[in-house]
Parts: sequence; structure tokens; C-alpha cells
Amino acid sequence: MTKIDAHAETAAGRGSRAPRCLIDRRDFLLASGATTFTVWVTMNAGTAHAEKVPAKVATYPRMKVAKLSQLEADTPVDFSYPDDGAYAESFLVKMGVPAGGGIGPDRDVVAFSYTCTHQGGGMQETYSGKTKSLGPCPLHLSTYDLRRHGILISGQAYQSLPQVLLELEGDDIYAVGIFGLIYGRFDNLQG
Ligand code: FES
Repeated sequence: MTKIDAHAETAAGRGSRAPRCLIDRRDFLLASGATTFTVWVTMNAGTAHAEKVPAKVATYPRMKVAKLSQLEADTPVDFSYPDDGAYAESFLVKMGVPAGGGIGPDRDVVAFSYTCTHQGGGMQETYSGKTKSLGPCPLHLSTYDLRRHGILISGQAYQSLPQVLLELEGDDIYAVGIFGLIYGRFDNLQG
């Protein structure tokens, strides 16, 4: 458990007396190696009501999922993220064309959830290297564009496919977060 003394101030600029807590970026990054940690924040600093209180913060795990040199074009690599719980099935793929959020020298490696945002259909085995899309979903045919952050191309869904955020360190590819809410979860980190 990491403890950080954080600063606090009132939201005076907004005409409100509600307390606002601040943690500087360096302390946040130092603490974010853990998946959960506790920070200590001072509420109502500078007033007679100043009080230190604990705040639990959850962060995404940094998980090695593949090696760039071992990826084959248009061949998905499966992994679970951010945990092994329900609807965590995910994949990454080197598409051969630049994509939003893509990493690598060609910005063409992306990762997404396999679970359809409509009603949770599993879309394993539906990647198309021809159209760089995932789908159609076996339940109601939703199809998602993997070049454009998983935006819906067609079908019943109305939310984009959650994109797994990637980082490249040498030849190693790490999953470090998720953009969008995984189907079936109220919080991506509560599997
Ligand atoms: S569950 Fe995928 S389109 Fe309905």
C-alpha cells in the first residue's frame, strides 16, 4: 500500500465551497505501479475543518501480451484483460494499415474486446483482414471498424467496441488500459 500526502483546495474559482483534492502527476505515476493503492488527501486544507482521509484508487494492470516481432499480419492473438473474469476475452492484431490507437512503427497494431457491446455476443473468429473489422456478431450482426477505434459499422449495437490501450517497450507489447466500458460490467476493473 502506498501512502501519499496530497494537496487540497476549495473550488473558490467556481464560486463553490465544495472541497477539491489534488495529487501531483509525479506522485500519481509513482504510485500507479500497483493495481490498487491508497492515497491520503487533505480535505478543506487551510481551514479549521482540515482533515486527512484515505482514498482508494484503482489502476489498470500493465500486462505483457505479445511480442511485436512474432505477430503475423491479420492473425489475432488472444488474451484476457484486465483480468480473467467475465467478458475479459480480448485480442490484438497487426492489420498492416495505420489505425487509431495503433502502435509499432506502422501504427497498425491494435487491441480490442471480443465482446459485442449490444448484448454480449462473443465475436471470436470473426476478424476480417479484408475489411479490418470485427463481426458480424453471431447474435444480431453488429460489425465494428478496427481502424477507427472500434466504431460501429452496422448492426444493433450503439456503442463502439472497447479498445485495449497498448504500449510498446522494445519488442514487448503491454496492455495498459481500456477505452470504453466492457459489456456486462459497471466498472472495467470489477470483473
Ligand atoms: S449481441 Fe452483438 S449485435 Fe446483439
